[in-house]
Amino acid sequence: MHMGGATMFDVIIDDLRYRGYSIQSVAIDQQLAVALHNEIKHKATQHLTPAGIGRNNQHTVDKQIRSDHIEWIDNSTQPGKHWLAWVEALKVQINRKLFLGLDEFESHYAYYPQGAFYRRHKDAFIGESNRILSVVAYLNPNWCSTDGGELVLYKSEVDTKGIKIQPILGTLVIFLSEEFPHEVLPAGRDRYSIAGWFRQKSKMN
Ligand code: OGA
Ligand code: MN
Repeated sequence: MHMGGATMFDVIIDDLRYRGYSIQSVAIDQQLAVALHNEIKHKATQHLTPAGIGRNNQHTVDKQIRSDHIEWIDNSTQPGKHWLAWVEALKVQINRKLFLGLDEFESHYAYYPQGAFYRRHKDAFIGESNRILSVVAYLNPNWCSTDGGELVLYKSEVDTKGIKIQPILGTLVIFLSEEFPHEVLPAGRDRYSIAGWFRQKSKMN
């Protein structure tokens, strides 16, 4: 399997170094992206969990803020295994070049039924979390600009314009978790993605 050649990883790393985020429209190998799409689409017909907000005991489900459904990804399926291997390869390169000290990675599939959204938020708050880097991968073949569901990535707390990214199969967005507020605009049809986070080694344990 093609593991996302060093060249693209180098571009991502340069983007992270100079801008704090990177958007790659053909990052995930087509075959893997389709396998991941099929897996989430199949799960979406069965048993997904309404996504929550907040950490640990503050975890609540608030449909006013987000209305997607999630399923954590592990090594128990082939697509999950390949996704995690790809991310691991990216992690090794990033750690070699940027010294972010990325450690654990966790990710979940997200299913946004038609009309679902995720209001503007940040994935981490300074001093409150060891989430360092957010990774989002898109799994929607034939997505059109009229289908909505864009990710809007804001460059700062005061940015209200942002950069809009269509959730097209194979697209990857990666950004520093504490620095980029972002939101998911209402999806015009069923929308599938993966959201993940690299954690830094905790100084507490
Ligand atoms: C998240 C998130 C974006 C997306 O789950 O925190 O911002 O496009 N997801 O699915
Ligand atoms: Mn987020």
